[in-house]
Amino acid sequence: MCGIVGYLGEQPAFPLIIKGLKRLEYRGYDSAGVAVIDTKGSLTHHRKKGKVDDLLAHVGDDVPTGHLGIGHTRWATHGPPNDVNAHPHLSGDGQLALIHNGIIENYHALKETLIARGHSFYSDTDTEVLVHLIAEVMKSSEELDLFEATRVALNEVVGAYAIAVVDIARPDELILARKSSPLVIGIGECEYFVASDATPIIEYTKNVVYLEDEEVARVSLSAGLKIRTIKNHRVTPVITELEMALESIEKGGYEHFMLKEIHEQPKSIADCLRGRLRLGHGTIRMAGIDDHESMWTEAKRLIIVACGTSWHAGLVAEYMFEDFVRIPVEVEYASEFRYRNPVLGEGDILIAISQSGETADTLAAIRMAKERGAHVFGICNVVGSSISRESDSGAYTHAGPEIGVASTKAFTAQLTVLALVAMRVGQLRGTMDPQQLNRLMVGLDGVPEKVEALLKKESDFKAIAEAYKAAPNALFLGRGYNFPVALEGALKLKEISYIHAEGYPAAEMKHGPIALIDENMPVFIVATQDAHYEKVLSNIQEVKARGGKIIAVVTAGDTEVARMADHTIEVLPAQDALVPILSTIPFQLLSYHIAVMLDRNVDQPRNLAKSVTVE
Ligand code: F6R
Repeated sequence: MCGIVGYLGEQPAFPLIIKGLKRLEYRGYDSAGVAVIDTKGSLTHHRKKGKVDDLLAHVGDDVPTGHLGIGHTRWATHGPPNDVNAHPHLSGDGQLALIHNGIIENYHALKETLIARGHSFYSDTDTEVLVHLIAEVMKSSEELDLFEATRVALNEVVGAYAIAVVDIARPDELILARKSSPLVIGIGECEYFVASDATPIIEYTKNVVYLEDEEVARVSLSAGLKIRTIKNHRVTPVITELEMALESIEKGGYEHFMLKEIHEQPKSIADCLRGRLRLGHGTIRMAGIDDHESMWTEAKRLIIVACGTSWHAGLVAEYMFEDFVRIPVEVEYASEFRYRNPVLGEGDILIAISQSGETADTLAAIRMAKERGAHVFGICNVVGSSISRESDSGAYTHAGPEIGVASTKAFTAQLTVLALVAMRVGQLRGTMDPQQLNRLMVGLDGVPEKVEALLKKESDFKAIAEAYKAAPNALFLGRGYNFPVALEGALKLKEISYIHAEGYPAAEMKHGPIALIDENMPVFIVATQDAHYEKVLSNIQEVKARGGKIIAVVTAGDTEVARMADHTIEVLPAQDALVPILSTIPFQLLSYHIAVMLDRNVDQPRNLAKSVTVE
């Protein structure tokens, strides 16, 4: 949540910062701001409620000049989204400007102390407290420059932060620090770029340094990059080369990132399988498992932690691991798990699933699991993200950057990786016979083509969306492997169209939700020909008997459901465990088209942010 950008170099800072903020807008978009320092040491500061475009309109022709600047796009935590609470925040004397992503948990106590020392505050934010604290430390000792003062001040701080600070007295220096919120430093020729992720940096340089927790960095045109921990230990920067391509973060002719990402799924699933699915050898190669083989063969239990859509992928994986590996599995919301006192230790493998790799609750859950002796296997999409770096081993989903706030291609890539993991572990533990494994491998290999076929039916999806766009409520049902697909379908619809939707296991309907069904209630149901087919047919009858409208995802060629349903969407046949990768796609497209028809902001739905770095 919140995106931060900084620039120090020879180019004008303002346009670079604005471009960077637009790339990071998916992280928060309720207000934005910039601060630029020119060579004469004067600071220009603009903040505006709304999107980066609102900030640009507010700045108008009064474009700040200068080669050092910081910018921020906010997702409000402390204080409502308005001009005053927007970042950057300034110290009382206006000498320092600071941007922040995270939450300062002890800000109240710090604020009281600072007020007692004569500081006064104009905003409701925790961030303003931080910039005052640094200024206070600088004031208390003339020996401390901004770098040292920031380092010392951060020892007083409890919470999460990625910050960038500038001082009008030092127009060639940018100070950065992070704890639990991401920060990447791009190293160019005589210039530095800073951002919450690499997307604003990629078109300028591929060389980046990921700042680690409790590290403070000074970038200076004369002295280069220096890093110390907040406890004052020297750190040697490690430069990593980015592999991301610029085209992958642009819309490429699609109206929205979400639509582009839905259509990228044949490729993202194929990318996820590449090099892992070795059909010719009858095996699966996954370094994150093969390098820790005995741990997987001896594991007593799997615990899967995640949030939101990634949690839904974890629920599908529970069925896969039970079927292929015959091992006990628990699937937990990371936000609940981290605050419980779970029985956890050696012999347990905790699988953390996260598209961004930065979700605060998932990160906290893996830290707790590591402390208790469990092995952490991370499944992330963003390369170099905090969860991927803190996991003991793992696998990337390789779906490419996902910019639309609603997760689509990351979800199907997570399902694909989880299928590979479950199959490989089943193979290693001998719980999958070679024929079963081979059938599934062939099945997985065919998934990208089946997704491609489904995506060609765009006009069918539009027609169904048109018919139900005015519904105030919707119900999503599924059983077995498709129960989590129902949950995911409901989440997609509600988050981008703001239509109230609930996902349920189809059989649970009669324990309560059936009371909601009348002729105005659309019921989206997965009724593919799997182990639960006959039972789902009965559930459809129950809905029809009460006047509900049925939109069913069925196996191609099915006529039985078609007789009862108001609309059917066909997916090509696949093994039960692989059907969710296909059956979820109609719900993505229906939600997308309904949201577009309702004129919603599909890529940046209200109140949401892509990367939830606060708990
Ligand atoms: C929904 C969505 C969210 C995320 C959740 C976890 O479309 O995107 O529910 O799935 O915030 O995020 P990650 O996977 O980045 O940990």
